[in-house]
Amino acid sequence: MAQSITILIGTITGTAELVAEDVSPILEDAGYDVETLDMNDLTPAVFKENELVLICTSTYGQGDVPDNALNLYEALEIDLPDLSNLRYGVIGLGDSTYADTYNEGGTKFDKVLYDCGARRIGEIMQHNASSDELPEEAGVAWAKEWVEILAN
Ligand SMILES: Cc1cc2nc3c(=O)[nH]c(=O)nc-3n(C[C@H](O)[C@H](O)[C@H](O)COP(=O)(O)O)c2cc1C
Repeated sequence: MAQSITILIGTITGTAELVAEDVSPILEDAGYDVETLDMNDLTPAVFKENELVLICTSTYGQGDVPDNALNLYEALEIDLPDLSNLRYGVIGLGDSTYADTYNEGGTKFDKVLYDCGARRIGEIMQHNASSDELPEEAGVAWAKEWVEILAN
């Protein structure tokens, strides 16, 4: 049976979803079953039930995770479940105009998952909405490298 990757979406205006739509086929071509879930209404159980998760989230407010990701993020922070069986990757979306809080949505998830004992695979991708690069293209390029790292 193919290993599965669960993509968890944190978004307000839908960019993270677009990125996930383009990243999914890259992961599928590498042999994974892919499921994409909106973080809204999820509990930390999602990290227990899956061994490989890809966080795909933007940043808002004072470097906050988007509203649909807030309950899940805060539950992780409070519960700090043992996620030592979890491997994860992070695609962060931000805008360097917000210099003090650039891409903190993704880095906040990275930190709390690390605190729970999970192991990040690869570098955090950080897309800058003020750059010329399309987020979907950045995501696809990153995902191609990510599956190589996962395979080794
Ligand atoms: C009101 C508002 C606040 C934002 N705050 C931040 C921020 O603090 N840090 C950051 O890096 N990006 C910030 N951004 C940029 C978004 O994270 C970025 O545009 C992202 O691509 C949006 O993704 P989404 O459509 O999936 O929500 C902000 C955008 C808006 C509209």
